Amino acid sequence: MSQHPLAQYLDAVPDFPKQGILFQDISPLLKTHFKETIDAMSGLFTEAEWAEVDYLVGIESRGFIFASALAYKHDKGFIKVRKPGKLPNVHSSMEYGLEYGSDKLEMQKGDGKKVFLFDDLVATGGSLQATMKLCEKVGYEVIGIGCLVDLKALNSFEYNGMKARSLIQFDD
Ligand code: PRP
Ligand code: MG
Repeated sequence: MSQHPLAQYLDAVPDFPKQGILFQDISPLLKTHFKETIDAMSGLFTEAEWAEVDYLVGIESRGFIFASALAYKHDKGFIKVRKPGKLPNVHSSMEYGLEYGSDKLEMQKGDGKKVFLFDDLVATGGSLQATMKLCEKVGYEVIGIGCLVDLKALNSFEYNGMKARSLIQFDD
């Protein structure tokens, strides 16, 4: 399978943020091909699917970049999933494991409407799985998950039969 052309603008940094981690840095891609990236991520869902969704949920912090730009493009509302202590009127929180370390995510109360989740990258899938559970807990219906990069070898992410749709996949 040929790789998406935008993959060439990622910078693979060995041993960051710690030994043994190959960090896929999205900075060069954002700097030179931001519009192309957002347009390509928009294509992860069909027009009919975009018509179904009410809000886009972005996971702090890199998820904000994609969810907010796509919310603007499709004229949808934007919802933040934040790390602890940043958000007032928190309704629920969820612990999750990262490829390196663990953390907690928080959200305000939902209104029963339909959402897509967006993040930059799936590694273990811990952040997205926690966010899916958290969305349900606060009162949103998750109908799609999108990300830029999926590290397939690490990822067996699936929740309620839903897999993240991604633009770029790596097998290492
Ligand atoms: C990174 C990345 C994803 C998550 C992927 O976020 O942006 O959100 O890890 O890992 P997972 O699939 O194993 O959960 P992180 O919180 O490290 O940093 P950020 O604040 O820069 O987004
Ligand atoms: Mg993140």
